[in-house]
Amino acid sequence: MKTLKVADVLKSEQYHQEIAVNGWVKAFRSNRFLALNDGSTINNLQCVIDFENLPEDILKEINIGAAVRIKGILEESEGAGQRVEIQVKDIKIEGVANPEDVKLTILSPKRHSLEKLREQAHLRVRTNTGAAVMRLRSKLSFAVHKYFQDNGFYYVNTPIITGSDAEGAGEMFKVTAMDLKNPAKNEDGSINYKEDFFGKETNLTVSGQLEAETFALGLGQVYTFGPTFRAENSNTSRHLAEFWMIEPEVAFCDLAGNMDLAEDFIKYVIGYVLENCDEDLEFLENRLVQEDKSKPQAERSDMLLRDKLKFVLENNFKRVSYTEAIDILKSSKPNKKKKFKYIIEEWGADLQSEHERYLVEKHFKCPVILFDYPANIKAFYMRLNEDGKTVRAMDILFPGIGEIVGGSQREERLDVLKEKMTALDIPEEELWWYLDTRKFGTCVHSGFGLGFERLVQFATGMGNIRDVIPFPRTPLNAEF
Ligand code: 4AD
Ligand code: MG
Repeated sequence: MKTLKVADVLKSEQYHQEIAVNGWVKAFRSNRFLALNDGSTINNLQCVIDFENLPEDILKEINIGAAVRIKGILEESEGAGQRVEIQVKDIKIEGVANPEDVKLTILSPKRHSLEKLREQAHLRVRTNTGAAVMRLRSKLSFAVHKYFQDNGFYYVNTPIITGSDAEGAGEMFKVTAMDLKNPAKNEDGSINYKEDFFGKETNLTVSGQLEAETFALGLGQVYTFGPTFRAENSNTSRHLAEFWMIEPEVAFCDLAGNMDLAEDFIKYVIGYVLENCDEDLEFLENRLVQEDKSKPQAERSDMLLRDKLKFVLENNFKRVSYTEAIDILKSSKPNKKKKFKYIIEEWGADLQSEHERYLVEKHFKCPVILFDYPANIKAFYMRLNEDGKTVRAMDILFPGIGEIVGGSQREERLDVLKEKMTALDIPEEELWWYLDTRKFGTCVHSGFGLGFERLVQFATGMGNIRDVIPFPRTPLNAEF
């Protein structure tokens, strides 16, 4: 007998047939109705137990959280709320869960706050919300690969340990080797962490872009999708110290082509989850509706989750230059006080998240692509425009999220790139290999980075980035 997934049983019409399912007990009432879930769907399978024929000791062990293997007959259900059910013929308790212990955890059957769930991240995936988000995250990952693979991109794995700081922000985690079994002791007794394992200082990557550029200038179109690390001390609902980034890089592509690619890609992956994750989206949408009820009217969402996703699919992203954005912001009255917290005095200032969110949520009311930023607030590798003061950068801003994408056309001219590096004190010896790409058949090329967790946040409606990654790393928190 084949063991089926709960998701498949719930769709099955093979009535009166014997089937096997495994899973965890989600609820057990009247010593008769067991709700089973195996992670394959948000919905539980009702298993009806004839307890008269069940030994007392087994009955006692059917508690919430226990792992069970069930064999039984698939029948149409007469009860409300489900189409099918299993008449249990045999049940094996594979792993018990003591009710007293369960009570102390998020497995206990009541509404737990997201903060509470975070404290038990190892059990979070057993909750409906945790499981729905993680299933969606997995589907989104698949959609990312599918989009690029279907469009002639090659997947490239850029190094995690690097000697360069791609973004030049200096917010990196240092990598040192250690041999705790044979610690070479310093004279003061402290462990010598063999700082010279690589013969130079190394850190965890903040972006695979520079390495991806070298690959684009050979394979044409590439993308990375891997973990990146930033030692920013940002305790916000949008920042992680370890996050996953998707970075496509395309040869013979300018900034306009880069914007087209980013928009097309985002629409594809959002469309993919709308088509393939409807039950989880429905659950998450209802969760948000419930959450909204406890908020003041002004803070409630004016659109349902799936409508928000459809809106992104059906509308063009608004493309606006930095200069136009500054003009809009200068003449805006964002709130009752008619002021931003941080007031933009002049052209050249960096936008704060309050400005970005104003532009997206209040002014344009749709995703916005901001481009042509002042050169001095962007990274060294961006293509300088003919005006000599702006660069071909683009940021994509999303409602409820803020910046979801950062990208640019790259500076392909060796002399201009070198001048820029000199001005920013970036030693040429460190990036000699990067400069080589500009010596041997350089070409116009572009790319961007999309923060995967911010995308998952948008797709799931989760307000805090810590709730869309299995084990979040943030300042003062690397539990699990
Ligand atoms: O704008 P960023 O810093 O751009 C780069 O790293 C470029 N090298 C990418 C490229 O052109 N290939 O980061 C890109 C995106 C941001 O827009 C944001 O979505 C996400 O990465 N991101 C973070 N996500 C979570 N936590 C953080 N601390 C993040 N920092 C950036
Ligand atoms: Mg950025």
